[in-house]
Amino acid sequence: MRTLLKFMKWVGIILVLLVAGLVITILSTHDKTYEAPYPDIHASTDSAVIARGRYLAYGPAHCSGCHSPLSNWERIAAGEELPLEGGFAFALPVGNFYPANLTPHETGIGKMTDPEIARALRHGVGHDGRPLIDIMPFHNLSEEDLTAVISFLRTQPPVERATPKNEPNFMGKAVFAFVIKPVGPEGNGEVAHSVTPDTTAAYGEYLANFVANCRGCHTNRDLKTGAYIGEYYSGGFLMPSAVHPGMACMTPNLTPDPETGHIADWSEVQFIERFRAGRIIPSSEMPWEQFQRMSHNDLKAIYRYIQTLKPVQNEVKTIVHQLAEQR
Ligand code: HEC
Ligand code: HEC
Repeated sequence: MRTLLKFMKWVGIILVLLVAGLVITILSTHDKTYEAPYPDIHASTDSAVIARGRYLAYGPAHCSGCHSPLSNWERIAAGEELPLEGGFAFALPVGNFYPANLTPHETGIGKMTDPEIARALRHGVGHDGRPLIDIMPFHNLSEEDLTAVISFLRTQPPVERATPKNEPNFMGKAVFAFVIKPVGPEGNGEVAHSVTPDTTAAYGEYLANFVANCRGCHTNRDLKTGAYIGEYYSGGFLMPSAVHPGMACMTPNLTPDPETGHIADWSEVQFIERFRAGRIIPSSEMPWEQFQRMSHNDLKAIYRYIQTLKPVQNEVKTIVHQLAEQR
């Protein structure tokens, strides 16, 4: 009996030490930093380059959907190009994360160099070396488009607005300590110098995967790590609404599966008209306000790309969900 008690005591002590060791490891390593090359990208003052960057930021790349305070939303939806002074908390299961002030004030990108901004977008390493949560899809943005976006950002009036520090919770710290690594360009890691905007499926693929993030939302993902867990474009990703607490929308299956594809029977004209109509479901996370402004040709290209996707059978039962637990 006494030996058993002694044994139990030692097992207990070892368990406590193991847990303490794990907690200490998490707390001491969750904020580790990473290295990644600085792209040789520098802002241009060419007005055509700046105009391209502005179009991307308020349109397909929807920077304005995340890097703007909620109080500016209605005006942005109405077409005003307000400075991208930083957004509201992204409340994820791993904590709160804040989209930065992107105006050239020192509380914003005033303190960052062009290659630092470029590295954050391409390699997922923040200006301070932290791995960024993989919420922005721009790793394979072409050299020219990355230059255009940064050139536009530099032309904004500086707005003083400090971005709050991210607040990862304990689970978030554990994920940063063990799982999350910076995400860089796909494929062979090489990024195109330029991509010609036309109406081909190839350009649609570039927009849908690396600019407008259609793939990032219309594929099921693990909300803790950002990892893809569903087949591309087959939908089923439940996204809690940032603006309507307690509500969430499930992304529809965009693949051309005749039975379960949400838009399998939509014509190109219907598809474009749906985008022009803008937001219908208030709690939807889809940045309809920005996508509504996309050019006819860009929408055409995206539609054509979607037609080439592999059909995946995945029934998404309801789009709008009432979450049981209020967030
Ligand atoms: C879906 C929302 C979303 C969109 C769209 C988005 N961002 Fe972000 N952005 C974020 C969040 C959230 C962070 C903070 C990430 C973190 O700290 O891990 C961030 C951080 C950044 C940073 C800071 C990097 C650093 O070093 O701290 C830059 C620069 C940036 N975004 C630029 C852009 C630009 C330019 C666009 C459009 C081309 C854009 N973002 C579109 C959500 C978004
Ligand atoms: C930030 C996440 C997000 C992004 C990015 C996104 N979607 Fe969605 N999408 C959703 C959600 C959530 C819904 C369901 C709610 C709704 O209909 O608004 C949806 C619905 C749709 C619908 C169905 C609309 C209807 O009326 O039935 C289409 C079509 C669609 N998305 C296409 C796209 C395309 C194409 C892109 C890229 C250009 C894209 N989405 C990017 C989240 C997203």
